[in-house]
Amino acid sequence: MFVKIKEVSMAYSDAGEGLPLVCLHGYPLNRHIWDPQVKGLSDAARLLAPDLRGHGESTVLPGPYTMDLLARDINNFLDALEIRQQIVLCGLSMGGYIAFAFYRWYKERVKGLVLTATRAGADTPEGKAGRDQAIDLALESGVSAVIGDMPSKLLSQETHKRNPKLVAAVKTIMQSSSLEGILGDLKGMRERPDSTSTLGEIEVPTLIIHGAKDPIIPLAEAQAMHSAIPYSDLEVIPSAGHLPNMEKPQAFNATLREYLNKLLWTEGM
Ligand code: MLT
Repeated sequence: MFVKIKEVSMAYSDAGEGLPLVCLHGYPLNRHIWDPQVKGLSDAARLLAPDLRGHGESTVLPGPYTMDLLARDINNFLDALEIRQQIVLCGLSMGGYIAFAFYRWYKERVKGLVLTATRAGADTPEGKAGRDQAIDLALESGVSAVIGDMPSKLLSQETHKRNPKLVAAVKTIMQSSSLEGILGDLKGMRERPDSTSTLGEIEVPTLIIHGAKDPIIPLAEAQAMHSAIPYSDLEVIPSAGHLPNMEKPQAFNATLREYLNKLLWTEGM
């Protein structure tokens, strides 16, 4: 499905009904990372998974894609779909950075947050230098050079051993990324603000889900968010890497289902 939001034609998956659960993908990915949730949870909520600008089937535009710009896209997406009720916003990695920006700007639209495989901090100076190198490499040698062996680095050892099909699927998703999308994300993430000091101001029930073996964002980042966010729960998924929703979909969906049921139950009280 597609919806027009200002200059972007946004592709999205939409399944189920009731409480909207909006799932934001990470870098350099697209909405199909959420297919296991679209399939497995659409009896519990209305699953909405957009392709962010520059990704999947959405319009490709020059960046930088700041987290504020991507959050504004999501706000316009909700308006275009005439979603007036509060949503649960679920972000994976870069999707989590966008969730922080969305919460800063539009917190009245948020009933709950799900932060997965993400961190609150900004890029360190070394992190920024790494972004610069990736930008140069992408400009000089193109998408496949910058993707390199990233797919292998994201996933846990167990996933490599037991699920080579998933490793191949993640590679396909990454290699289909557009150059502008990659550059837009890298430049936007490089400039993102530090959200650490705002964690204590998050007033909605927040579920933090992290792979125990995440090689990209250490588990300690999730533990720190859990300590700082007042109404938060932390679920650690054993043997999962940076994409716990794809690597361990049953465990991920069970945790998310329980969280959604609790949210709906407290609403009914
Ligand atoms: C992601 O998965 O979105 C990225 O690893 C986030 C990042 O590079 O900071």
